[in-house]
Amino acid sequence: ADRKFFVGGNWKMNGTIESGKKLVETIKSAKLDSNVEVVVAPPALHLLPVQEALKGTQIQVAGQNAYHQVSGAFTGEVSVSQLQDANIPWVIIGHSERRTLFGETDANVAEKTKAALKHDISVILCVGETLEQREKNESINVVVRQLDAVKKEVDDWTKIVIAYEPVWAIGTGKVATPEQAEEVHAAIYDWAVKNLGQGATDKLRVIYGGSVAGKNCKELASKPSILGFLVGGASLKPEFVDIINSKL
Ligand code: G3H
Repeated sequence: ADRKFFVGGNWKMNGTIESGKKLVETIKSAKLDSNVEVVVAPPALHLLPVQEALKGTQIQVAGQNAYHQVSGAFTGEVSVSQLQDANIPWVIIGHSERRTLFGETDANVAEKTKAALKHDISVILCVGETLEQREKNESINVVVRQLDAVKKEVDDWTKIVIAYEPVWAIGTGKVATPEQAEEVHAAIYDWAVKNLGQGATDKLRVIYGGSVAGKNCKELASKPSILGFLVGGASLKPEFVDIINSKL
């Protein structure tokens, strides 16, 4: 009962204030599974208008990134404490686009996660291997290394949702098979039992991301180790509603 199915929508760098509001209207007018925790991550500039438009619904908002320092000479960054000040309850940390396009290291991801939690912001922590790493059979090693780095800085994982997002599945239309996702999810739960303990693991949610769509969500959601999704492209479309309702 502790582990509500979790569906995140990562809008990435898309849309306008107007299109964001329209998307919210579409989601609001639909009947949503009330047992699902839904979080959408608009671009930073759109967080507040989207949050305002979502008032009174079950849907929360997340930043797509945050800087670990509270304030200072960090041109272009938004800090964890600024998210907290704006009552933004969630933040995505360590998305593969941040890691590959913007050079975020495991250590950066760890310090950002620690800082977000310190400011009472829940974290969607993204991990996952590249195609090259998968082909070398390194998927689990890579994910464990990414998690170990965060564990070094963070003891309490109760406000973390882990998103397993294989890089080769992101934005490619090449969704992982349920078996591929389940294998890594199982490895993450094993890691958690060893590193966080059984009690924390029982409360931990591992969600899947990478080309999740209306047409593949039900099969993935039927797997016991897949406790939700982080959705990119399809979160900008009306089918996001079907993904939220994938357990119905
Ligand atoms: O954060 C979301 C992921 O990057 C998945 O993106 O659903 O467009 O493949 P996608």
